[in-house]
Parts: sequence; C-alpha cells; structure tokens
Amino acid sequence: MTASGSTDFLIVGAAGSHGATGNHVTRQLLAQGHRVRAFVRQDDERAATLKMLGAQIVVGDVRDFSTVRAALEDVGGAYFTYPLDASLLEATTTFAAAGKQSGLRSIVNMSQITARPDHASPAARGHWLAERVLDWSGIGVTHIRPPYFLENLLTIANPTTIRTEGKLYLPFGQGRHAPVAGEDIARVAVGVLTNPGPHHGKTYVTTGPVALSMAEQADTFRRVLNRPVQYVDIPVENWRQALSQGGFPPLLVEHLSQVAEAHKHGEQDLVTDVVKAIGGSPPQTLETFVRDHRSTFEPTAP
Ligand SMILES: NC(=O)c1ccc[n+]([C@@H]2O[C@H](COP(=O)([O-])OP(=O)(O)OC[C@H]3O[C@@H](n4cnc5c(N)ncnc54)[C@H](OP(=O)(O)O)[C@@H]3O)[C@@H](O)[C@H]2O)c1
Repeated sequence: MTASGSTDFLIVGAAGSHGATGNHVTRQLLAQGHRVRAFVRQDDERAATLKMLGAQIVVGDVRDFSTVRAALEDVGGAYFTYPLDASLLEATTTFAAAGKQSGLRSIVNMSQITARPDHASPAARGHWLAERVLDWSGIGVTHIRPPYFLENLLTIANPTTIRTEGKLYLPFGQGRHAPVAGEDIARVAVGVLTNPGPHHGKTYVTTGPVALSMAEQADTFRRVLNRPVQYVDIPVENWRQALSQGGFPPLLVEHLSQVAEAHKHGEQDLVTDVVKAIGGSPPQTLETFVRDHRSTFEPTAP
C-alpha cells in the first residue's frame, strides 16, 4: 500500500474502463477538491494517471481483508463497484466487514436494475444479496441500480456490425431501456458521497433521459451517422453462442442472456430523474454518445 495521510473517500474500482464509474467518481471528487484514495488492482498507467491527478493510490485485491482494512483507515465514505463476477459476494462481504471495523460512515454501492432475489440470472441474484450484506453492516448505504450503460454499445452490442453492415444485432425484442452513461452514474454517486445523510437506506435507479427500444436506438444511429442502421432482433440462444465464442466468461454470458429475455418483457422500461436531481444536470442522450463515438461506428474505423 502506498497511501499516506488522511482522506475523505475511498474509491474501489477506481481504474475501471468499462462503465468506468469508479474512475469518474475519483476524478469528479478530486476536481471538487476532496482527498481521495483510489483502490486499484494493478499498479499501471491508469493508476499513475490518477496519482498525477492527486489521488492516493492503494494497490490490492478487494477480497483481501487486511489490505482493504488498511485502505479504509481515516476514510469517511466509499464508493464500491465490482465486475459482474462470481466473487462479487466475497468482495462485498470483505468490504463490508472492513468498513464496519474501520468506522466507515457511508457506502455508495453499484448494483443493477436487475437485482432481485428471484431473477433467472445468478449474477442478478448475487447483486441483490450483495446489497443485503451491505445493509446488514449497519453502515449508511445507498444502492445504485442502473439499467444498461451507454458504454455497452461499444462492447456487447458489437460496433463492428454497425460499422460494416449498418445492422445492430441484439435479442432485446421490443423492450425498452434508457441507456445511461458511466459518467452520469458517477455524478449521482458523488452527490450522495458528499451529502450522504438524506440518501442512507435509499436505492436509486439511475437512468438516461428516455426509454428507447432497440429499433428506436438504431434510428438514432441512422440520424447521427446519416446512413442506414437497422435493428435486427435475434434469438437469445444465438446471442448466447456468439458471446461464448467471443470469450465472455460463462457467468456473464448467462447473465446477459437472462437479462435480454427479461428486457423483452419490460424489466428495464423505466425513466427516473435521479441523475439530474442528485447528480446536478440532465443525463447524456444517446445522440450525444453516438456523436462523441462517431469514429467507432463509421465504416472506415479499424
Ligand atoms: N454494463 C452495464 O450495462 C451495467 C448496468 C448496470 C449495472 N452494472 C454494474 O456495474 C458494475 C461495473 O461497474 P463499472 O463498469 O464502473 O466497472 P469497471 O469499469 O468494469 O471497473 C471495475 C474495476 O474493478 C477492478 N477490479 C476487478 N476485480 C478486482 C479485485 N478483485 N480487487 C480490486 N479491484 C478489482 C477492475 O480492475 P482491472 O481494470 O485492473 O481489471 C476495474 O478497474 C458491475 O457490478 C455491473 O453489474 C453494469
């Protein structure tokens, strides 16, 4: 551990690069002048960048109690995010135990809109259980349950086919969701961390501005890119196979497949004002996201 001095917040998952919510939370808190300790798994260039921005760096595995306990010394509030992985409960329990022992006062926990005790996805059930473990810790906890991230359009939605065929292949049926940016979720987490009292014991669904079907999302791509982009609804089983062949871990494949099925039936069809109300300004639109990532979706992209 290379941390030193007192601090205001500990951020787990601070070097993240998918939704990168921990990364955004770290940067936003630093920009507001807070003292931030960034918990990273690897001492790499991402950690070096955070250090340059002013964060204290702790390198370690969040499943290691003594490392987490030491990282929480003198910390008042923490953001906790962890990948969709079979070890989520172990990581969460370790964090809760260390937080309780260290006198941590607040936790903002990244969960999912799918978190339910009876969800067909084991990972969604895992998120629900992880929420309960944190609740039992007695620390003031706020859960964040976003729908699909906008950033998924760069990964699981496969930008290659948008680029090469003008087609968006997914098994999401006619269901809708309001895709949300990691940066906007981070603004909610920062709003809670910096004024935790009113938010303790609350669960927030943090959505983008409008719920859209995939056909409507394809239409947004068409308008922004100024060329035909069409949604093609595929069977969930085909997607499951493609994800497996693409090297996605089995738990994630199962989760994405089960959630796709639930999405068809409206599981994520919800819009809230949480991002604006707690995060301070309206959430990013799909239009802006596609425009900002235009080069990824253009036929000339690598
Ligand atoms: N994608 C979606 O549509 C969506 C929607 C709703 C909710 N969520 C939830 O969002 C969460 C992920 O958030 P995110 O996208 O902000 O995360 P992220 O960008 O993927 O970052 C996760 C970070 O955790 C670090 N990490 C992994 N294992 C660790 C360990 N054992 N000890 C310490 N650090 C570890 C990773 O380190 P390395 O980078 O070094 O591996 C990474 O930096 C998941 O729980 C998921 O269920 C996702």
